[in-house]
Amino acid sequence: MAIVIKRIGILTGGGDCPGLNAVIRSIAKPALTFINAKVIGILDGFEGFVEGRIRELTKLDVTGIVNLGGTILGTSNKGDPFHYPRDGTSGVMVTDCSDLVVDNYRQWGLDALIAIGGDGTMNIAHNLTKKGMNIVGVPKTIDNDLDATDITFGHDSALQVATEAIDRLQTTASAHHRVIVIEVMGRYAGWIALGAGVAGGADVILIPEIPFNWDVIFDFVWKRSKGARYSIICVAEGAKPEDGHHIIKEQDSKRTDPIRLGGIGEIVAARIQEETKLETRVTVLGHVQRGGSPSAFDRILGTKFGTMALHAASRGEFGTMVSLRGRDVVTVKLEDAIKHQRLVPPDSQLIMAARAVGVCFGD
Ligand code: F6P
Repeated sequence: MAIVIKRIGILTGGGDCPGLNAVIRSIAKPALTFINAKVIGILDGFEGFVEGRIRELTKLDVTGIVNLGGTILGTSNKGDPFHYPRDGTSGVMVTDCSDLVVDNYRQWGLDALIAIGGDGTMNIAHNLTKKGMNIVGVPKTIDNDLDATDITFGHDSALQVATEAIDRLQTTASAHHRVIVIEVMGRYAGWIALGAGVAGGADVILIPEIPFNWDVIFDFVWKRSKGARYSIICVAEGAKPEDGHHIIKEQDSKRTDPIRLGGIGEIVAARIQEETKLETRVTVLGHVQRGGSPSAFDRILGTKFGTMALHAASRGEFGTMVSLRGRDVVTVKLEDAIKHQRLVPPDSQLIMAARAVGVCFGD
């Protein structure tokens, strides 16, 4: 059912990624130009929604930002309104502040909210729709771990950064006849490690979906040291040995996802050097993967997602998320979008192709 949108809110939640501004622009421009709506920016994700950090956006705010990384609205991976953390005298106190979000939504007279984020944001959005808010989600994350869309925007840009890093490590590894381990992000999914590893020509790729065996890796790099004389190992932050567990860098109860992974790269490098005596170095790519300009693909996908999210809102299709299926953007129900994490199927064509060109997955 078509509805008249007079005031539309936009929020970016969770970790940032390249392409967020392209989405904001493609919601705000047509909203201001074609449907004559006011565009209201929620600052710093749901934290800003609870605290009432909200302002109207003008055309000037969204001009010249398609190529800009980050988000002009700011974001936060803390502050789930349903479990809102506040510092108290006896540590962090968690309370349900979702009514404050609903109050702010009503106070600003919003007809709809477009929530741009990953699984955490979509979960919160789903719960807020149950409280009567009109929400359409837009899927972002460099990790590409949302099951209900073929791809999230931001992933392609991260892949490019990680691939270029591997290209650079190839030349120095080969010059010094070393083993170089590169740890990339991705949380519990191996999409970044697999994609960048294949594109960059990594010799070993370790992903969470295929637990690895230490001896297989030692043997593989040892053999390469007698031939090519160097090896590149691309490790996902969520990778783990067959008999081991994820390496956790930090736990923070204020975060929507309290666990921050990281550290497996150091462990892999240290074990290889210890067991094989081959000179080994490690690079942890970190937030370089999230920063900087979006790729052309992410700018285009972001523009399509934003426009289609506004269309969905104008049709009154709330409680949904836009999603890429093939070449088309469709809408899926939020409750379906949050059901499953999108992990690399160990029997996927890309894994098969990588194995065919000699990549070792440590299994
Ligand atoms: O979800 C995106 C992501 O970059 C993950 O790949 C990574 O594990 C996490 O966010 C890092 O979070 P933070 O920015 O809080 O360090």
